[in-house]
Amino acid sequence: MPVTKFSTPEKHMYLNGFQSYHESEAVPNTLPVGANSPQRPAHGLFAEKLSGTSFIAPRCENLQTWLYRILPSAAHLPFEKINEDGDVQANLGDLAKVNQLPRQLRWDPFDLDDSADWVRSLKLLGGVGNPAMKSGLGIFIFAAGTSMPDKLAFYSADGDFLIVLQHGVMDIQTELGHILARPNEIVVIPRGIRYRVTLPAGPIRGYILELFDGHFKLPELGPIGSNGLANARDFQAPVAAFDEDTSSAWTINCKYNNTLFSAEQNHTPFDVVGWHGLYYPYKYDLGRFNVIGSTSFDHPDPSIYTVLSHPVADFVIFPPRWLVQEDTFRPPWYHRNTMSEFMGLIMGEYDAKTGGGFRAAGASLHNVMSAHGPDADAHAKASAADLHPVKVGEGSMAFMFESPLMIGVTDWALETCHKLQHKYNEASWVPIKPAFQRSV
Ligand SMILES: [Fe+2]
Repeated sequence: MPVTKFSTPEKHMYLNGFQSYHESEAVPNTLPVGANSPQRPAHGLFAEKLSGTSFIAPRCENLQTWLYRILPSAAHLPFEKINEDGDVQANLGDLAKVNQLPRQLRWDPFDLDDSADWVRSLKLLGGVGNPAMKSGLGIFIFAAGTSMPDKLAFYSADGDFLIVLQHGVMDIQTELGHILARPNEIVVIPRGIRYRVTLPAGPIRGYILELFDGHFKLPELGPIGSNGLANARDFQAPVAAFDEDTSSAWTINCKYNNTLFSAEQNHTPFDVVGWHGLYYPYKYDLGRFNVIGSTSFDHPDPSIYTVLSHPVADFVIFPPRWLVQEDTFRPPWYHRNTMSEFMGLIMGEYDAKTGGGFRAAGASLHNVMSAHGPDADAHAKASAADLHPVKVGEGSMAFMFESPLMIGVTDWALETCHKLQHKYNEASWVPIKPAFQRSV
């Protein structure tokens, strides 16, 4: 997959680096020297701290950012639970009522939706745990067709959003600056950061993994060495950009314990003139992933494709790559794992599932110890193939949220969305025939 080439509007400027210390100011001399919260911040601004970890977290994990803004975030009326027509609360689901199922699950592509904005497009597909206890995760499908209304911002108090964009373009205005995202790019918006999503190129669709505790890290590289997989310099954070609006009526939507709340204020939340710290949103172009693989026999565990890692979920991709192994069954083996595997497809055809049942914008979920692997046709072809160097996955990008937790699924995923494939097992593995011959 080539690296995305595009002209970058001036407002979408980025700082490179993953969890490295950044500072950015849209007006010169905004950031203080010395005291982070000086008695009188420059330009008449307010200093505000945004913490992404406990204050006492080890230095290597501590994520804090200082904001210098026109008005503090606290200047708003109380948050009230949203009570509106429609099913916005139902869409966010109830993790206490998910269905824990040992069966293999697969979904046809989820529909685009011309009517919903970002906030009202979020549909809980599954998850486990409890945002209030800061444990577990949620998996959402989004399909939005309209920009968020003017003067509406959103944040999740529940966790970090890892957004995997499958279709369209997202123009995301955050408190810390702008992020423009296209398919094959991921965006991570940490807990609490306020943002709004507009759609400059029509509908958007994709997947979200929400982490209820902690934050993603890059995996350790061990014997791979100092470079490889996702390189730190390819992660991009926004630079400071602000609006000067202290007289308009704004609404802040907040996802809190998987329930939507709303508050009013008379100024823009996007008034951060400068910031410095380690807690910020970022994006990453999956086309920049440096694939490592076997050059002799067998293939490594899929952990070799890990982009971002966390104790309750790794984010893994399957990029275009060369297969050169000798005397090797090259597709994934048949397997049962202690981990749950939620897979999605951003574009193209996933090289391990060629039968047409796993399509872009669809998904599959193989939960803890659910047996799976190549379907009958893929096994037959791979077993008989002449093994030459071959490039697989050209024009394709599949991904996986891999978790040690059992991922329950919502009634929306099983019924309401009407995308569940009810003959997945019959289409994939039931037709496999034995080939055992004792005498050979
Ligand atoms: Fe698997």
